[in-house]
Amino acid sequence: MDTQAISKPVRFIKGGAVHTLVQLAPTRTLLEVLREDLHCTGTKEGCGEGDCGACTVVVGELRGGKLHTQAVNSCIKLAHSMDGMALWTVEDLAAPDGNLHPAQTALAQCHGSQCGFCTPGFVMSLAALSEQHPKRAISREVASNALSGNLCRCTGYRPILDAAQAMAQLPRQPLDTPQVRSGLRALAQVAQAEAAALAPVKPAPKRAPKPQMGAYAAPTDLATLLALRHAYPQAQLVAGCTDVGLWITKQDRDFAQVLDVTRVEALRQIDDYPHHIAIGAAVNLTDAFAALVAQRPQLQSFAQRFAGLPVRNAGTLGGNVANGSPIGDSMPLLIALGANVVLASHSGYREMPIEDLYLAYRTTALRPDEVLGWIKVPKPLPAPKGRSKANRSSGELCRVYKISKRFEDDISAVCLALNVRLEGGHVVSASIGAGGVAATPVRARATQAALVGQAWAEATVRSAMAALRAEFAPISDMRASGAYRSEVLGNLLWRFWLESQGTPRTDLQALAALDLEGAQP
Ligand SMILES: Cc1cc2nc3c(=O)[nH]c(=O)nc-3n(C[C@H](O)[C@H](O)[C@H](O)COP(=O)(O)OP(=O)(O)OC[C@H]3O[C@@H](n4cnc5c(N)ncnc54)[C@H](O)[C@@H]3O)c2cc1C
Ligand code: FES
Ligand code: FES
Repeated sequence: MDTQAISKPVRFIKGGAVHTLVQLAPTRTLLEVLREDLHCTGTKEGCGEGDCGACTVVVGELRGGKLHTQAVNSCIKLAHSMDGMALWTVEDLAAPDGNLHPAQTALAQCHGSQCGFCTPGFVMSLAALSEQHPKRAISREVASNALSGNLCRCTGYRPILDAAQAMAQLPRQPLDTPQVRSGLRALAQVAQAEAAALAPVKPAPKRAPKPQMGAYAAPTDLATLLALRHAYPQAQLVAGCTDVGLWITKQDRDFAQVLDVTRVEALRQIDDYPHHIAIGAAVNLTDAFAALVAQRPQLQSFAQRFAGLPVRNAGTLGGNVANGSPIGDSMPLLIALGANVVLASHSGYREMPIEDLYLAYRTTALRPDEVLGWIKVPKPLPAPKGRSKANRSSGELCRVYKISKRFEDDISAVCLALNVRLEGGHVVSASIGAGGVAATPVRARATQAALVGQAWAEATVRSAMAALRAEFAPISDMRASGAYRSEVLGNLLWRFWLESQGTPRTDLQALAALDLEGAQP
């Protein structure tokens, strides 16, 4: 089948106009379309793999009638995924009378542009930040987080951070306008009308025919997604495309058909239950981590160590889990929290502990007709009330540590997540997940066994450290040697013990919190 020939048109709003692109190959990136088809060359290509931020754009969609905007990397975003959305590039920020956007004015006034090549990306991250903080002043920490996906190789971060904070003093120029919102509603109506025109008029026969799928499908309901997954198991499943995008841009891989899960309403929700939350697989990492942090605030700094903001905005928790990389960061944490995954297919659902999803290096238990549906994460048990000695030595201790060469936007050499429950100074349960130490994300069962039933004391921790160092045989690669990985695993458990005893944190996050003048983000 010539799938290119039945590619649906892609419509999005940019610069106040609707753009319609036809016959787009499913693997064309938004950056390619911007630069080659629309000739919007303000958006730059630096790395082509989500690392440098030169290609950052702002995308917007209606959520519950409100415009939600966020910065993403256009180099690894598939152009088809823009259908029905709003887009801003650096060309779209100035007002029709030529007045610059506050992000542009502030960057110029603070001398935040040196090379100029990375500047459009910084401007777009700042524009998204300004949109999200319309009234409030922007702290250094918030600015740093907003710019965590933008690299400046000439070390000019201080004036760029100054610019982020200076925007608050300038007149606003919102991206969210009634015109954009009504344009998006009109696009949604067109999409609905098209879907209705394709729907069968007669009642469906008992044996449903094979559903039709073009080059790129982004169904909005789960039943259609599962029917397409069943009928077209060879179609490449994508979510935020922050892993798959690199297979296209760096490995030159091509896919005749792409099945996008990110529009399925049921997979975009986070549901609250009495004892757990269920995070839909298509929830982006920004929102998924916010939900985990709401349950356990101590996870905040770890959440910001995952990639940079544009990757967290585009990438999903489901994509991280399903990709199954041994150095993926959310899995050690989810293992430690005792999370389950729910897999869905046209014939039903099955649920399993997340560690059982991983069978071998990048091999999961997902069948060709299945998708990852939800990640169910138990809530913390309530902390004991009162300050008695017994209560002070009871409760949940939960931490996750990521060791990487660079603080932001880097992949783990080792990741260790621990969730230990104490009662009266004794370990009643221990749940430990590790990454970077085996062919898959793993549960540290021997170490857990060394802790459970023991007094939470230095001697117990020392013997658990030995168990942890012996439990895995990590490989040596460009990120770290096997010996380093084993050593650091034990050291992280020691840090966990020290922190449980009230020793202040001595890691890079704590140094960053000092907000040293001129510190780089
Ligand atoms: C610059 C950069 C920095 C990064 N930093 C980190 C980091 O610090 N830590 C880290 O862990 N990762 C990191 N990543 C990797 C990536 O961002 C994450 O793995 C992300 O969560 C992938 O999600 P996605 O939605 O983009 O998945 P996609 O790329 O769309 O898909 C990834 C895989 O999952 C499959 N998949 C997606 N959704 C489903 C589903 N619902 N059911 C079944 N299969 C599915 C796809 O078929 C594909 O095989 C980084 C990536 C980049 C580009
Ligand atoms: S070009 Fe570097 S992040 Fe896109
Ligand atoms: S201003 Fe472009 S690399 Fe620093």
